[in-house]
Amino acid sequence: MSLADRHPGRATAVAPANIAFVKYWGALDLDRAIPRNPSISMTLSQCVSRTTVEVLAGTGADEVLLAASDDSPPAPAPEAFAGRVRGHLDAIRRWGGGEAAGLRFRVTTANSFPAAAGMASSASGFAALAVAAAAALGRRPDGPELSALARASGSGSAARSTLGGYVEWPAPGSPPEDPRAVQLAPADHWDLRDVIAVVESGPKEVSSLAGHRLAPTSPHFARRQELLPDRLDRVRRAIRGRDVELLGETIEEEAIELHLVAMSSRPSVFYWTPGTLEVLAAVRQMRREGIAAWATMDAGANVHVIVPAADEPAVADALGSLTPVGRVVRDGVGTGPIVVGDDAERGR
Ligand code: PMV
Repeated sequence: MSLADRHPGRATAVAPANIAFVKYWGALDLDRAIPRNPSISMTLSQCVSRTTVEVLAGTGADEVLLAASDDSPPAPAPEAFAGRVRGHLDAIRRWGGGEAAGLRFRVTTANSFPAAAGMASSASGFAALAVAAAAALGRRPDGPELSALARASGSGSAARSTLGGYVEWPAPGSPPEDPRAVQLAPADHWDLRDVIAVVESGPKEVSSLAGHRLAPTSPHFARRQELLPDRLDRVRRAIRGRDVELLGETIEEEAIELHLVAMSSRPSVFYWTPGTLEVLAAVRQMRREGIAAWATMDAGANVHVIVPAADEPAVADALGSLTPVGRVVRDGVGTGPIVVGDDAERGR
């Protein structure tokens, strides 16, 4: 009798998105998500993916279901998405070894925020899949091992979403062939908020995978590599010393540089919209008025405005009043993924 027949495992995990302070952009090995440079991020708490993994009895293909939101019914996922999930499940089966290697799964997932719009839905989604699948197999890998399992999805930023607080990936000294994440500081070290001005909620035209592939074609890519060690150091110091000015000016400079590299890639990759520029101007205006608000953007048009907790309400109001901003998501540093259900949940 197989593991699936005897004791079908099931687990649900909730994993957060993260916002990169120093970005992963360009890979040494894109298929295995081996990054060209280290990155540092803040794990969020409200933008999450909730994923259930069930071991199915019998043979056949994995089933992948996607719900538009937490309370809408799941439906078969579009093939492009389902294909990436199956690829990640293959890696999880290899990691599980033994009987796990022959199992098939049903994966049901929902995001609390717009997917594929530069809001790290792949990071939270694949982190949640790694955590839920490991739990469904009765395994509890430690943080570094979990980060490697999430990275096996092909999404490097997913490695950072397996830990809470402030996270660096790869950890200094991590084997280049097996880059693992490390927590620089826990969430309660520094209560920073991320006020997200959503100017675009549809899927972006160019995936981050395509962006990584094109990055080295930019004439600015090589120069970026020279500048990064100092920038990484400034971000580490800013986090350690809770220095919002140092952090803010460094992450805004970094975000602009990422987009400069994207825009100057051949062919050019353009994520910004007029709405992005309007939000950036509003953030500069806030700073002139004495608010410590700093902007960063991942591979998308939406602007993440990083602020100390006390400034969050005023910044959220100001951003919400801008015409191109369809929605403001108020998020902040979070503690990382959790398993919310396991075998005990079966039969409910
Ligand atoms: O993890 P990926 O392959 O989705 O790439 C992430 C790319 C950025 O979001 C732009 C940067 C980052 O480090 O999160």
